This record gives sequence, C-alpha cells and structure tokens, in this order.
Amino acid sequence: MTEVTMTVNGKLMRGEVEGRTLLVSFLRDQLGLTGTHVGCDTSQCGACVVHVDGKAVKSCTMLALEADGAEVATIEGQADADGSLNVIQQAFQDHHGLQCGFCTPGMVMSAAALLKENPKPTEDEIRHYLEGNICRCTGYHNIVKAILAASGQEAAAIAAE
Ligand code: FES
Ligand code: FES
Repeated sequence: MTEVTMTVNGKLMRGEVEGRTLLVSFLRDQLGLTGTHVGCDTSQCGACVVHVDGKAVKSCTMLALEADGAEVATIEGQADADGSLNVIQQAFQDHHGLQCGFCTPGMVMSAAALLKENPKPTEDEIRHYLEGNICRCTGYHNIVKAILAASGQEAAAIAAE
C-alpha cells in the first residue's frame, strides 16, 4: 500500500492505496464520495467524470496514485457554499436534463469543464463535447438545453426532437 494525498473539493485528503486502485474507487470507497458513479467497465459512459487539476477526466481511467498531489473536484463540491445548486445544476433541474440521474454527475462535471474552456458553446459544440458521456434516459436534448441555458444562451432556440 502506498500513501496518496490530494485536495478534493478544497480539502486535503489522505489514504492508502494499492498500485492498481482507480481514482474512482479511491473517491467512492475511501472518501465516501459516491456521487461519482461507475456506469461501465469500458471507459465509455462518462458517469465517473471528475476534474483533476481543472481538466475533466474519467476517474475510472486514472489510478489514484496518478492523482497524488492533484486538485480534484467532484460533484459533491459543485453546489454553492450555502448548499444551493450551482448554475449548471440548476439549469439541469429547470430544463429536465435528467431522468434517473445516474449519468448526471458526470454530465454536470463535463459541462462545467466545457463552459470553463468555452463559455458560449454552440449546440454542436456541446453535443461534440458530450460524446464521452452516455445517457440512457433523456435523449440528450434537454441536457443540451440545460448547458445552453447555463451558458446564458437562449435554450428555446433548439428545435424539439
Ligand atoms: S465508469 Fe468511467 S467511463 Fe464508465
Ligand atoms: S438520466 Fe438516466 S442515464 Fe441519464
């Protein structure tokens, strides 16, 4: 076992991991941050997306040891300080961007990374960015609407599917 230290949602966290321990397992099993989901074993679904040093990463594709010393952000750290939903989370709620909610943490984390890079993405850019995030419920339409709305753009302009 090897000690690993990282800042998670602004707090310094330590743990002991095996060389093979995935970042998602460390977050969920050792830190209890179960908002980061595991939806596949093929690195395809995106339910496990977190930010590592500001970049969106599928946490099932990274070893915990690779995140040693990093700044990690998970869905648990996304709400505002008073506990209210942040602008992206609120837009998902307002635009019905979720149904079962399983993909939602990864979608929100991907959306946050997208809007940081590209604060006013087009519909096509949003769809392209979300290629690594699979949703089995919503058909994506309302997710795209939510992200447009979170970026301050007119979401109603998207044609109904
Ligand atoms: S659990 Fe990581 S991509 Fe599916
Ligand atoms: S809301 Fe169910 S998987 Fe996306």
